Amino acid sequence: MPDANPTPRHVAIIMDGNGRWAKARGLPRLEGHKAGAETVRRVMRAAKKFGVEYLTLYAFSVENWSRPPAEIRGLMRLLRFFLKRNEKEFHDNKVRMRVMGRRSDLPASADKALAEVEAATAHYTEGQLILCLSYGGRTEIAAAARALAEDAAAGRLDPAAIDEKALASRLYLPDVPDPDLIVRTSGEERLSNFLLWQAAYAEFHFTPVAWPDFGEDDFRAALDAYARRHRRYGGL
Ligand code: FPP
Repeated sequence: MPDANPTPRHVAIIMDGNGRWAKARGLPRLEGHKAGAETVRRVMRAAKKFGVEYLTLYAFSVENWSRPPAEIRGLMRLLRFFLKRNEKEFHDNKVRMRVMGRRSDLPASADKALAEVEAATAHYTEGQLILCLSYGGRTEIAAAARALAEDAAAGRLDPAAIDEKALASRLYLPDVPDPDLIVRTSGEERLSNFLLWQAAYAEFHFTPVAWPDFGEDDFRAALDAYARRHRRYGGL
């Protein structure tokens, strides 16, 4: 097929369904998140195997702070455990780990653990794992708008010069290319405030599989679906 897309360079995933997966098994929700963290490891390996360069994961949204405190604490603990368990994997595969989101919201212990791994992997260029934490697309765009206003008010920026590029350069990780493919697990088909700006031309793939059950074959199926699409970017 002449139009077939190659492997997406950047895949972003809304990891949904941990809670329902646990409930269906009569387990506490946190067991679903634990299983979900194992899926992250599996999917990181699949991304490497299939040649995906950037993997962005929606791990905790700005809205998730309204969950019960015990679940939030459990997720933050799990995040620290995840970093410990996977740091060697980042080094072995020369993968850079980065965070995007409102960092100042995170508990100091989680922020410190993240900053250490970010610093230790900052020089790697084989791939990037981007964890969205306390992330919200509208929050990100509002912060970029504020940065533009501050620059304009300080006389560093002519308001007439504000264009898409000027705003995009003030998003959390401006050097990361937009996602080519956005995957959401567990049957919901919405964006839930994820990468609102960056998703402008992304392809979407929805699967009923709950995140804890998502495996290499499911990742492969998402890439295959992407490969069958014809991206036109508004052209013909
Ligand atoms: C959505 O499932 C998932 C989350 C809010 C958290 C995602 C976290 C993980 C996959 C584990 C930790 C990740 C890392 C990177 C360490 P849900 O709880 O909304 O599921 P539900 O809709 O079935 O209730």
